[in-house]
Amino acid sequence: MTSVRQRAWDFAMTPVTPEHRVDVEPVASMHGVRTVETRDGLAAINDPGTELVIWQRSLLPSLGNWLDRLDVATLPHLRVLVQPGDLRPALEPLLDTCGMTAGDMRDLLVDDIGWLVSAFAIITGSERVDVRLERVDHDACWKFHRDTVEARLVTTYRGPTTEWVQMAQAGQAIAEQKAYQGPLERLGVHDVALFKGNCAGPNSGIVHRSPPIAGTGLSRLFLCLNKQSEVSPDPWVKA
Ligand SMILES: [Fe+2]
Repeated sequence: MTSVRQRAWDFAMTPVTPEHRVDVEPVASMHGVRTVETRDGLAAINDPGTELVIWQRSLLPSLGNWLDRLDVATLPHLRVLVQPGDLRPALEPLLDTCGMTAGDMRDLLVDDIGWLVSAFAIITGSERVDVRLERVDHDACWKFHRDTVEARLVTTYRGPTTEWVQMAQAGQAIAEQKAYQGPLERLGVHDVALFKGNCAGPNSGIVHRSPPIAGTGLSRLFLCLNKQSEVSPDPWVKA
């Protein structure tokens, strides 16, 4: 690992301190919701009664700045089903196709995705992970909803972050949709969320939505990790 990548790893593994989070509202400790300070803490999603685990973290500032300045036309929009060890060779040709220039910063992004893919695979007991890295410039999934999965990991590398509601407001948000005026939570910038969907069991599933951005001129870069399913692409194989 090069020094800049080692530095990114050390930074990623450093628990987030309050001074790093002055731009983010504190997340209340509520029923079913946990906040953690390390990647390993995401495993708390397997604890009974836990519906959402948020890893509060910061990316290396140089990586965040690079992501924010990327030409929108080169933001990736891809999907691949991989074993964690194959993430880099699977992803790099797809990033080339999208026009994302290779270099130290792209290496850091692939490293970060790789660490999350590995963590997700271990925590969910998955041999392969369905990786979606998407450019979003519209109101995707604007409705409050629960995902039809057992578990899903999301993070936003660029742009506004995923919005969600506490379990107590879940029914109200689903019923009222755009008219909902109750408490609304928002992931911190670059935070990682691992949450349960409605396949995890009765009364399970965090209600959430994509932030409305249509007409704002903003573009998001959104990562979503799932277990392999019938809608996954064919497994990636080395050419
Ligand atoms: Fe969703």
